[in-house]
Amino acid sequence: MPTPPIVTLQAEGLARVFGRGRSRHVAVQPLDLAIDSQTSLGIVGESGSGKSTLSRLLVGLDTPTEGEVLLDGTTIRRMLGTPSGMRRFRRTVQFVAQDTFSSFDPRRKLRDSVATPLRVLRGVRGEEAEQEILDVLSLLKLDPAFLERYPSQISGGQRQRFALARALVVRPRILMCDEVVSALDVSVQGAVLNMIREYCDTHAVGLGFVSHGLPATAFIASTLLVMRHGEVVEYGPTAQVIDDPQHEYTKELLDAYRRGPRHLRTEVVA
Ligand SMILES: Nc1ncnc2c1ncn2[C@@H]1O[C@H](COP(=O)(O)OP(=O)(O)OP(=O)(O)O)[C@@H](O)[C@H]1O
Ligand SMILES: [Mg+2]
Repeated sequence: MPTPPIVTLQAEGLARVFGRGRSRHVAVQPLDLAIDSQTSLGIVGESGSGKSTLSRLLVGLDTPTEGEVLLDGTTIRRMLGTPSGMRRFRRTVQFVAQDTFSSFDPRRKLRDSVATPLRVLRGVRGEEAEQEILDVLSLLKLDPAFLERYPSQISGGQRQRFALARALVVRPRILMCDEVVSALDVSVQGAVLNMIREYCDTHAVGLGFVSHGLPATAFIASTLLVMRHGEVVEYGPTAQVIDDPQHEYTKELLDAYRRGPRHLRTEVVA
């Protein structure tokens, strides 16, 4: 199979401020980063550090206060301004949100939620769509019988895997995942992480992996970005960040991680 051309998602001076006056809050301070279809970027930090805000900006679900996001050099602001540009962007960049409950329409069966992006973004329908959906469900160890259920009729962990399935059927070139394994049972976290890593490697998909958990992030990502209070405190190759952290906060995260549950260390970190 020929390797598809590299796709790059970049942030330049990207920032997000919420509120005004006394309620003004800088959720993301101006930052630069890049994810391309050959790399995996792990974004890690404590709760409230701005990870979800950053990921929503990167996938065009929120508008920056400053700076730009670019896909292969074109601002996504411009792309998202036209229906065809929007389709091209959504076809290339897929997002799995942290809150999977609100990211599914409660009135639609899961089959419909998974089949729609396949039809709208890739023009695949009928038998072919059915087969592709079954293939992705099997990859994620999801029972095809769930397709006839509504989002509220499956567990949080199953819904999280369904959200991943809905993103993967689009065959994106960049996949942004916000806390995709957090609602999963520890026993399946490792399997899902392995699956995502292998999928991205074999299909040349760039990964943005957001998590408050350092072990999972370090396992899956070749590059780590550590956030604190909306600021990037560390950004570099994973091995380098782990071996030689520059910032006090990264050292604290690493200490907590080394003191953490042994099963996570051995299971998740190869
Ligand atoms: N729509 C919004 N309006 C106002 N403030 C917001 C909004 N969204 C996020 N914030 C604030 O921005 C900061 C960063 O939030 P964000 O959800 O990005 O953090 P996070 O790192 O993803 O946290 P968690 O690990 O808990 O998911 C928080 O202080 C949050 O309260
Ligand atoms: Mg979050």
